[in-house]
Amino acid sequence: MNLEDKPIIPSPMMKDNHSAPAAQESVLEIWGRASLKGHVKISGAKNSALAIMAGSLLCPEDCRLRNVPSLVDIGMMGEILSALGVKLERIDDTLEIDARHLNGSTAPYELVSKLRASFFALGPLLARLGEVRIPLPGGCAIGARPVDLHVRGLQAMGAEVHIEHGVVHAFIKGTGSKRLKGTKIYLDYPSVGATETIMMAATLAEGETIIENAAREPEITDLAGFCRAMGAQIRGDGTNTIIVNGVPSLHAVDYPVIPDRIEAGTFLVAGAITQSELLISPVVSDHLIPVIAKLNEMGCQVIAEDANSLRIIPGHLRATDIETLPYPGFPTDMQAPFVALLTLAEGNSAIAETVFENRFGHVPELNRMGADIRVKNNIALVRGVPILSGAPVMATDLRASAALVLAGLAADGKTTIRGLHHLDRGYENLEDKLRLLGAKLHRVPADAETEEDNTSVVENQLAQVAQ
Ligand code: UD1
Repeated sequence: MNLEDKPIIPSPMMKDNHSAPAAQESVLEIWGRASLKGHVKISGAKNSALAIMAGSLLCPEDCRLRNVPSLVDIGMMGEILSALGVKLERIDDTLEIDARHLNGSTAPYELVSKLRASFFALGPLLARLGEVRIPLPGGCAIGARPVDLHVRGLQAMGAEVHIEHGVVHAFIKGTGSKRLKGTKIYLDYPSVGATETIMMAATLAEGETIIENAAREPEITDLAGFCRAMGAQIRGDGTNTIIVNGVPSLHAVDYPVIPDRIEAGTFLVAGAITQSELLISPVVSDHLIPVIAKLNEMGCQVIAEDANSLRIIPGHLRATDIETLPYPGFPTDMQAPFVALLTLAEGNSAIAETVFENRFGHVPELNRMGADIRVKNNIALVRGVPILSGAPVMATDLRASAALVLAGLAADGKTTIRGLHHLDRGYENLEDKLRLLGAKLHRVPADAETEEDNTSVVENQLAQVAQ
């Protein structure tokens, strides 16, 4: 195909409603080693928005969420809520949600199996309706991801839970008010999802629920803030003991989602890996403390320009060791981007993944680009190399796909990334944002890849797209 004829595909975005965009078979081509410059606007946090959308099921009045990113995962959560009887309307980054009339349906398995976060509907639906059926989400590319902690928490609050034919059926026994009962729940592990499920369910329970060894992630605090704005009585979020005093009902709310700390971290790494100075905002820099600490250790400076902005000033990259941990430890969602960065650092690094058991799908792909990484059990050993070389690679999960984009930005020559549906789940407008900074990349149909020696023609074409 003549290059000029080749269609450039915009990254899938939700337009004016909540529905997910149609999947397109396409690849992302990146011509590496362009230096980047400028400011990046960080979108609302995907994981906060997903939990808060589930939390909106608690609300029998109008619910307005602002700063909601336009992503495939958000679209899928919207479809699940619609299937449960919720009315949704999206205007720009605002989502109007009306969950007055829930129809008591089971969330469709096809959607739940694609979006694990849809399981977060379990707690709010049980608390509000007294009975819920929701399919088990199943495994995913990064691990088995059981839901035992969610289920045990709800059982401790008096719910009867049966798992039959792959569906969780939970109900509150007895007649009358059908409210869960507050109690003390110790989580064996500070699971983000289980903390969210129990905290949401407890908002409408009778009496006090104490969640011990709770997750402390900023997304938990954001969900708690959303619930409080609806009249819930929650304290201690952001610490490992969350106390919820149940109320009989919640009310209308207008709430902005926090900035996405993982997207922000990914752009900080983009600055470091391309040796480019970048300004990112809005951010909550406290949410990025472990990421900033590791960038500092590696020789980069990260400066707070003001309360909401961070500037990365890259330096000569040095190796470091990383262990992923629950917040405030180093986030597992930043592990893959940092592995990409460490491939180009001087010296040897060890990265231990302790949160998920199978989260090194990016390693063989990075090795195809000339990286020197070996994985032993849950540890990736990275020997820094002076340069990566562009290659065809396959994204295996969301953060692995971000790692490949980052590596492609730094690599010599062309990198072609397949499996873009992973990337589209979690990064709003990533390609446009990178192009605005000066990166050379575009999305084309899988059968229309650009030949290696056509770089100058592509540059012309990209220049036209940018106008
Ligand atoms: C959330 C985030 C994800 C992030 C993760 C850890 C969303 C939509 N996703 O996922 O991006 O990587 O937190 O920060 O918010 N576990 C159990 N039993 C359970 C629940 C969890 O054993 O009932 C285990 C999991 O298998 C995993 C670990 O706990 O090994 C952490 O999982 P969890 O914190 O629950 O992550 P998610 O909420 O699934």
